[in-house]
Amino acid sequence: MMTRPHSVVMALLLLAEVSRFGEGASNPGFVVRITERGLEYARQYGMAILKKELSAINVPDLSGSFQAGWMGSVSYEFKWLRIRSFQIRNIDLSLLPGTGVRASLSNNYVSIQGNWKVKKAFVTLEGTFDLSMDGISILIHLNLGKDWSGRPTASVAHCSNSIGHVSIHISGHLSWVLNLFHERIENKIKDILKQEICRIVRMSTSSYLEPYLRTLPVTLMTDQVAGIDYSLVGAPRVTSQGLDTPFKGEFFSRSQRTPVPFDAPPIRLPQEHDRMVYFAISQYVFNTASRVYQEAGHMNFTIRNEDIQKLNMLLSNHSAQEWWNPNCLASETTPFTTMISCFISSYLLLLLQIPLDFPIQLHTKSLGTVIPQLSRLYPNTELELEISPESAPLLLFTPGNVTFKPVMNIQAFALMPNSSNREPLFQLRARTNISATVSVSSGRVLGSVTPGSKLELELKHSNIDSFNVKLLESIFNYYASYIIFPSLNEKLEGGFPLPLPRDTYLYSVQLQIHKNFLFIGANID
Ligand SMILES: *[C@@H]1O[C@H](CO)[C@@H](O)[C@H](O)[C@H]1NC(C)=O
Ligand SMILES: *[C@@H]1O[C@H](CO)[C@@H](O)[C@H](O)[C@H]1NC(C)=O
Ligand SMILES: *[C@@H]1O[C@H](CO)[C@@H](O)[C@H](O)[C@H]1NC(C)=O
Ligand SMILES: *[C@@H]1O[C@H](CO)[C@@H](O)[C@H](O)[C@H]1NC(C)=O
Ligand SMILES: *[C@@H]1O[C@H](CO)[C@@H](O)[C@H](O)[C@H]1NC(C)=O
Repeated sequence: MMTRPHSVVMALLLLAEVSRFGEGASNPGFVVRITERGLEYARQYGMAILKKELSAINVPDLSGSFQAGWMGSVSYEFKWLRIRSFQIRNIDLSLLPGTGVRASLSNNYVSIQGNWKVKKAFVTLEGTFDLSMDGISILIHLNLGKDWSGRPTASVAHCSNSIGHVSIHISGHLSWVLNLFHERIENKIKDILKQEICRIVRMSTSSYLEPYLRTLPVTLMTDQVAGIDYSLVGAPRVTSQGLDTPFKGEFFSRSQRTPVPFDAPPIRLPQEHDRMVYFAISQYVFNTASRVYQEAGHMNFTIRNEDIQKLNMLLSNHSAQEWWNPNCLASETTPFTTMISCFISSYLLLLLQIPLDFPIQLHTKSLGTVIPQLSRLYPNTELELEISPESAPLLLFTPGNVTFKPVMNIQAFALMPNSSNREPLFQLRARTNISATVSVSSGRVLGSVTPGSKLELELKHSNIDSFNVKLLESIFNYYASYIIFPSLNEKLEGGFPLPLPRDTYLYSVQLQIHKNFLFIGANID
């Protein structure tokens, strides 16, 4: 249930003063927008937190003196004041476009207990008192920015308050003396507390909120390989649509962080504010992840003949992930870009096990039909393919479409019988161009893929003389357009559940692809 306090913290604390994205700074990797509706949700949880915090406030001792008729000047002290109850009856959070966020707490009630002491000459009287205050209103304007380390900062730009009615009940030895002047005491305490409330608000901000914000982490380790940097790249910004907070959103390698050789593209958020929260996720986030996992070798795959058998089994089992390379099924946390690479190797696997007139296996008996010298040079030998991206595959988001243009190297080996040796045979370069559209409906992701171009094969290197790559290519493309894409689309039409972290309850999810980014809107429950 960590996400709830977290989203409240996000909503309550990332309250901001106006600033512009990218004033000299870099573009964000992702932007979180909290709308008025989102703030309303945060308010309910914020109220509980605020009530707890306010009840724990230390009310300072009060002292002073007053003229008590025939007694002359009497000095008093109120000590050990404790808040017994703090009732926040009304709290209203609102966005002030261009300025910040306003929290208005009204019709609150506080009851305080404490001890009193009155001194006049040599006489000291003491006892206890109960004090209650009604109709307290507090108005706070908070400004938020970012510090040098990319953490949010908070400051109180404005604080004012008013107190409706104070009543005090004094008990103790000779308390009737004080009760004679209770109205004056009440007014005095009212004045003092009126000054105190905003001092306490400012003090809580500087001694509680600010240190808290300074300790917020700005990186998160996603797994053994990568971490993500989500420091702020600009101050949060309030518009009529909501509170937009820009994060860096850059994946980095845990073993060695190197500068990313490309920039985050600009993000132009659409004018939408129906949902509680929106997330704009730049292609930059995916592409920095792609770079890290590719460099770490997580997109290198080996396909053996047995994988084709495994895939056949999966297919006959009607598994939900039928078309995945079984090697990719190992981890639940497979990053998206590795999934793309899995997709490509799965695609190849599927191509290989498609029922041709002659079923292809990773075996010279089978591939020898297309590459005749194979069966001559290596009769009855199993083959193995090593697939690796030539460079990190990059995603491109265009309105309505995600496109990727992977360039993969495919190295074929012959597995020598009775030894662990493999003979390198040839290396192919495969290029293709695939577009995907995605949408969300009733909590499921639906999609379709279209080949943007045919798969192009090129013989990069061969130890077994050249052979007709075009023949291999046209076989691949024939099956891609008549079998692979139609069957893939049939599955994507059925959809799959939205991959969300545990303890995240989103509903009314909408998903759009805009230029350079994915835009997701949702309500939280
Ligand atoms: C991935 O495969 C390529 C081609 O075989 C190789 O050059 C690269 O070193 C591999 N990467 C890792 C991290 O193993
Ligand atoms: C097939 O499905 C059954 C039951 O869902 C499962 O136990 C079995 O492991 C699956 N077999 C394969 C090869 O995935
Ligand atoms: C997505 O890309 C495909 C292939 O390039 C194209 O035919 C289609 O019109 C695009 N869709 C949109 C919404 O732009
Ligand atoms: C190769 O393996 C086969 C069967 O596994 C065995 O009969 C044969 O003796 C082996 N040959 C060599 C040279 O080890
Ligand atoms: C990808 O598709 C676009 C048009 O959709 C085309 O202009 C481009 O040449 C293709 N790239 C490759 C590598 O096939």
